[in-house]
Amino acid sequence: MADPLELLADRLRPAFERVAGLAGVDPVVRPSEHADAQANGALPLAKSLGRPPRDIAAEVLAAVEWEGLGTAELAEPGFLNITFDAGWIAELVAAVAADDRLGVATTATPQTVVVDYSAPNVAKEIHIGHLRTTVIGDSLVRMLELVGHTVVRENHIGDWGRPFGMLIEHLVDLGSDRSASMAVGDLDAFYKTASAQFEHDEDFATRARARVVALQSLDPETIALWRSLVEQSATHWNDVYGKLGVLLTDDDIAGESRYWVLLPEVLERLDATGLLEESDGAQVVFPPGFTNREGQPLPLIVRSQAGAFTYATSDLACVLDRVERVGADTMLYVVGAPQAQHLAMVFAVAEMAGWLRPPRAAVHVAFGNVLGPDRKMLKSRSGEPVRFVDVVDEAIERGVAAVGDKNPELPEAEQRAVGHAVGVGALKYADLSTDRIRDYVFDWERMLSFDGNTAPYLQYAHARICSIFRRADVERTSGRGHPPTIAEVPERALAMRVLGYPSVVGEALERWSPHRLCTYLFELASDFTTFYEHCPVLRTDDETRRSRLVLCDVTARVLEDGLGLLGINAPTRM
Ligand code: ARG
Repeated sequence: MADPLELLADRLRPAFERVAGLAGVDPVVRPSEHADAQANGALPLAKSLGRPPRDIAAEVLAAVEWEGLGTAELAEPGFLNITFDAGWIAELVAAVAADDRLGVATTATPQTVVVDYSAPNVAKEIHIGHLRTTVIGDSLVRMLELVGHTVVRENHIGDWGRPFGMLIEHLVDLGSDRSASMAVGDLDAFYKTASAQFEHDEDFATRARARVVALQSLDPETIALWRSLVEQSATHWNDVYGKLGVLLTDDDIAGESRYWVLLPEVLERLDATGLLEESDGAQVVFPPGFTNREGQPLPLIVRSQAGAFTYATSDLACVLDRVERVGADTMLYVVGAPQAQHLAMVFAVAEMAGWLRPPRAAVHVAFGNVLGPDRKMLKSRSGEPVRFVDVVDEAIERGVAAVGDKNPELPEAEQRAVGHAVGVGALKYADLSTDRIRDYVFDWERMLSFDGNTAPYLQYAHARICSIFRRADVERTSGRGHPPTIAEVPERALAMRVLGYPSVVGEALERWSPHRLCTYLFELASDFTTFYEHCPVLRTDDETRRSRLVLCDVTARVLEDGLGLLGINAPTRM
């Protein structure tokens, strides 16, 4: 809406169409190194019209009403370089500043979007591998909600299946000690003890197997024990979510157990569509295009040779549930890259069965690994996966220390609160600012640095603007709606950047990539730094001061809003 490049494209399109004698011509407007924007639309047109691009560009140049918008120059072989009028930019900034949404429009096509993220497993430690899905998923939820979609968060926890026999029996054996044992959060030890006993103790193994049967026949006592396992695990990960400021609550739990009753129906419905085949005693579907290493067709197994339903059957039931009960238009699976083939095959089978027809879509929002300094998967000193809760606690501790160093004058309670925001922000931002599909190296020093592309740098830029207003002793809202004067180069660069915010939110959503937004916020903070170095805000004449405060205010609001979309708080003092 406020994006100058889009507004320019809207202005140029009719001229291009008239000159070309065609409808739907793209003026191909891009940022320019030589001006504010360039329009390259004459180049593709030249081919189809068989005319020199320069002639087309010249005709467009003559056909556009430039008054009030800016000036354009023709460049070889047929670009238009456009420089906007300062007054036009200033009016746009004023409109954005007067808008609570900072120019971000709501979507014209609201959808119901399911976001499947976090998904830890019951009675297993929630570890560093869940960091990425949790923070990426949470950020996508916030962006989708901002633009007006109905978002259904689903925490697809691993809460069903054969291991629950041994886990429940282990719980029974612990007797009255059990809550103490699980409450300390040492879930991996719980799991390991149970599986070791399953291996070595025949009697225990027999009980565990009987317990699986009891669980699957919904025996009330067994279900009660199972529920206590789920609840205690939930307490543990809710602790992590709370510290991180993640939106997930118990109401969002939609674990594998939910889909269990639907599994027979999945088989029946696949059979009814004629897709079910038998292969090596198992019941399978062959989605076209999937082959194994030998080039043989690869089956999706929905019932094993032993008669058991699989993770794939469960995910097919889950697709049905999301489509038919939830009414999802789009389903996002924020799940690690290793599950790519599993999900692609599930989606393909769901499409074959007619459960997932376009425009309804399922998308695997995949991500890479968190690596240690040796560029191998991040491990704790003892070689175990790093516990999520330990990482979050350390982030908070380090954040508090960093803030204490930076500003020893802050009262202690504020230091804790701000430090928490900085530590958690640093952790989330380090994750979100890497292109999600790539691996990244986990590095405390770097993520907590107040320089560079980090949350503390952005938070500091925001706090610094807040402090300008405290010193100026004027209301933040006072200049909203007044066009600033755009005279100096850094003012212009900052204003143009602010105006790009809505497009960036759109792009981040288009690619399901919060990292786009991070890059933008870093550029915005850098533009602000340059502006602040070259353009005095408080020590200048009244008129300039008023104008520059308008730029300061709108910059701080975009920073706060953008960080908010990443799930990061922006303290007003640091
Ligand atoms: N609980 C699974 C795991 O830890 C992730 C679930 C992802 N979602 C899904 N619908 N399969 O691997």
